[in-house]
Amino acid sequence: MVRVCRLGQEAGVLVAALLLSASLAQSQDDQAGFDVLDFIDPFIGTANGGHSFAGATLPFGMVKAVADTEGENQGGFAYDTTKVTGFSHTHDSGTGGATSMGNFPIFVHPGCPGNDISRCNWTSSDRAVAWRRDSPKARPGYFSISLENGVDAEMTVTNHSALYRFSFPGAVDPSPVVLIDIIDLPQSRNSGTASVNPETGWLTGSGNFKPSFGLGTYNAYFCADFGGGELRDTGTWTNRTAAVGPTTVSVVADSSHPASNFSAGAFARFDSVDNGVLTVRVGFSWLSVERACLNAEREQPDFDFAGTVSAAETAWRNRMDPITVDAEGVSSELRTVFWSGVYRTMISPQDYTGENPLWDSDEPYYDSFYCIWDSFRGVHQLLTLVDPLSQSRMIRSLVDIYRQEGWLPDCRMSLCKGWTQGGSNADVLIAEAYLKGVADVDWETAYEAVVKDAEVEPPNWNIEGRGGLQSWKTLRYIPINDTDPGTEGLRTRSISRTVEYAYNDFCIAQMADRMGYTSDRDKYLERSRNWRNLYKEDQTSAINGVDTNFVGFLQPRNADGTWAYQGPIFCSPLMNFTSCYLNADGHETYEGSCWLYTFFVPQDMAALIQTLGGPEEFVSRLEYLHDSGILYLGDEQAFLTVFQFHYAGRPGLSAARAHSYIPSQFNTTVGGIPGNDDSGAMGSFAVLSMIGLYPVHGQDIYLIIAPFFKEVSIRNSVTGKVATIRNVNFDPSYKDIYIQSATRDGKPWTKNWIGHDFFVDGGVLELELGAAESDWGTSIDDLPPSLSEYVREPVVKQT
Ligand SMILES: *[C@@H]1O[C@H](CO)[C@@H](O)[C@H](O)[C@H]1NC(C)=O
Ligand SMILES: *[C@@H]1O[C@H](CO)[C@@H](O)[C@H](O)[C@H]1NC(C)=O
Ligand SMILES: *[C@@H]1O[C@H](CO)[C@@H](O)[C@H](O)[C@H]1NC(C)=O
Ligand SMILES: *[C@@H]1O[C@H](CO)[C@@H](O)[C@H](O)[C@H]1NC(C)=O
Ligand SMILES: *[C@@H]1O[C@H](CO)[C@@H](O)[C@H](O)[C@H]1NC(C)=O
Ligand SMILES: *[C@@H]1O[C@H](CO)[C@@H](O)[C@H](O)[C@H]1NC(C)=O
Ligand SMILES: *[C@@H]1O[C@H](CO)[C@@H](O)[C@H](O)[C@H]1NC(C)=O
Repeated sequence: MVRVCRLGQEAGVLVAALLLSASLAQSQDDQAGFDVLDFIDPFIGTANGGHSFAGATLPFGMVKAVADTEGENQGGFAYDTTKVTGFSHTHDSGTGGATSMGNFPIFVHPGCPGNDISRCNWTSSDRAVAWRRDSPKARPGYFSISLENGVDAEMTVTNHSALYRFSFPGAVDPSPVVLIDIIDLPQSRNSGTASVNPETGWLTGSGNFKPSFGLGTYNAYFCADFGGGELRDTGTWTNRTAAVGPTTVSVVADSSHPASNFSAGAFARFDSVDNGVLTVRVGFSWLSVERACLNAEREQPDFDFAGTVSAAETAWRNRMDPITVDAEGVSSELRTVFWSGVYRTMISPQDYTGENPLWDSDEPYYDSFYCIWDSFRGVHQLLTLVDPLSQSRMIRSLVDIYRQEGWLPDCRMSLCKGWTQGGSNADVLIAEAYLKGVADVDWETAYEAVVKDAEVEPPNWNIEGRGGLQSWKTLRYIPINDTDPGTEGLRTRSISRTVEYAYNDFCIAQMADRMGYTSDRDKYLERSRNWRNLYKEDQTSAINGVDTNFVGFLQPRNADGTWAYQGPIFCSPLMNFTSCYLNADGHETYEGSCWLYTFFVPQDMAALIQTLGGPEEFVSRLEYLHDSGILYLGDEQAFLTVFQFHYAGRPGLSAARAHSYIPSQFNTTVGGIPGNDDSGAMGSFAVLSMIGLYPVHGQDIYLIIAPFFKEVSIRNSVTGKVATIRNVNFDPSYKDIYIQSATRDGKPWTKNWIGHDFFVDGGVLELELGAAESDWGTSIDDLPPSLSEYVREPVVKQT
């Protein structure tokens, strides 16, 4: 794909900024005059498949307004496109799968030629109009763009409504037509209705649509009214035919006509607009049209655009407030990577509390857990640190989904169950939240939910729970093409599901241990060792016919215990990566190779290191993973491998790896993330790496490298306690990135990891840096926790 660079970010300017940064030192990011919003660029990741949402949203807000473009438009707007088809009010951010939502787009014509509505373009593809390349502007809570039809569009939002401001610099006497189309971006509609009130021009309607990566359907409702225009007339249209006068249009699928993909809707035309600006207020709801109208009236009583932008900005500044960085010497580029990453992790999951049509409950309801397979490796760890209240509400929501629907989700969007990609990874989130003391969760019910995942096979394990549990309990691995009588689910990914199930069980064991369920603990600890059953010790691996000289990889296995075969680099970027997605002809590893999944033993890295031939051999294999092209950092399984050098006593190599990826693969260009952002997962990886404490998902520990800033502090917004990570001899050119020694609250700290208690209790972790690896954090006693003992004697490689 063609890379698009944003204006004003020419490489030369950046280099100059980098060179000057040491002398023109910008200091504390909490100093007067610092506005965090100046370092948030919502366009990062809007090209090259990043799918980031660039539009206006509140933190975790339900309504997300943006211009929708043609092309790869999972986030609504994408920079590598040319035309806008409309402006819609609900989106997901960074997701793969089909495009989500984008229901009921509005579109504005400055007028129809000769005031003849039949000469306006109505359908989504006919009306698509080029956007001006230099026009898009985005800040938290605000998005604007100029179109070649002479319309300038600006938008902002509250939690449940959007406010659009259209002006007409290209028109002499605008007589604008505002249309609302009962279509959605993925063209999934089953039915829909739009109505217009001929007295007021108000537009209302509803539709039934399909989720973008899941099963079922959902209903949505809108209510739009206007500020600043003199109403001329109203009407409806279907396909290319519009008529003044009719007040309602409906589309319904029948057996001969799918209703999914054609445009139809209602419109209001205006004689003139006051001061050249027409404001459109759109309320949205999952409950009813009345509720959609109420949402708009309650949250936007005055059509106050500036006030709404300002409220959104305040909401965003407040969310960022727990983090303080001393950015002295650090480039504006890296600061923007950092704060934009924090921003993107707070777009989803989306808070639909009070808007859930599925059940009545006093618990919070969040949607767009899209997907936990992605977000369990970074997003929720960052939220736990900087927004513990939201993390608590999200975990409560997951538990409530279990209570109401009988299962935890692995993915969820648009009020529907989403597809499961591997294990039941909500188990990881829940266990970790328990270990970290996330507040106000009903832990008994949470425990019941994770145990159900481990014990009961659902009828359709594509959408919840796990498949192959019978094999899991008896064979102790998932065999290739497992038969699973009586249940439904894709019989692929036997290797990646095996290692994920093993880790899920480990996480349950930790919960059981601390909750006092000792027999459960023992059972799940035993199962957490099942990864070994797919380890084939004599398996070799070659790239282009040249042996890699590493022996021993996970391999698929038949139910009778005999080995099957999948090339160890198959499903990596080096071989057939795209054949390993979630579909019926997928393979035994999901979106990654046997090479990669062989490293997925976070519960027992000591045993893995031993299995792979000891620390030296392990380090050389992990280096090879990163250097050979086998690893794709744009998929979340890669994240932990950046830091796994810690387990072999080489924390400095983790630091070096983190710097090799940031900024080379995380930068401020529109293509500046290596893969789908997946609800902020890429952003969270960059932020957590730059903070210097990388969380091991599912556990309550962090692997220590030096922060990318002189100092980072995180204040727990519930307890008020502040944890500070401070570099001594900080070198903003990042040559001196190696920890020589460390103290915690003034006392020596030799472990290369630290527990979550650091953030609970607060304190200061001080790291003295130098230009070369030291022996800090390298001794056996300093290594991160592991199920097995680390072996003291280095194992001599057999040749
Ligand atoms: C309708 O679309 C056609 C083809 O893109 C374009 O030439 C024409 O200007 C459009 N008409 C209006 C009124 O926008
Ligand atoms: C949006 O909703 C959240 C969660 O309910 C709430 O805390 C916040 O105050 C709301 N924001 C605004 C600007 O109303
Ligand atoms: C609109 O177009 C669709 C698809 O081409 C067709 O099925 C439908 O009947 C059309 N509706 C009208 C009212 O022309
Ligand atoms: C709708 O889908 C049908 C069937 O795939 C296709 O023939 C038709 O061209 C589509 N119409 C539009 C307006 O995209
Ligand atoms: C998987 O097993 C089913 C029977 O359960 C069989 O029909 C199918 O051919 C097998 N597929 C493969 C790829 O072995
Ligand atoms: C792997 O890719 C090669 C080359 O593109 C192709 O010929 C082969 O069919 C692919 N194999 C699978 C199983 O997708
Ligand atoms: C920015 O990040 C993208 C995505 O990872 C990468 O492909 C590109 O090379 C990076 N650009 C620069 C200038 O480092």
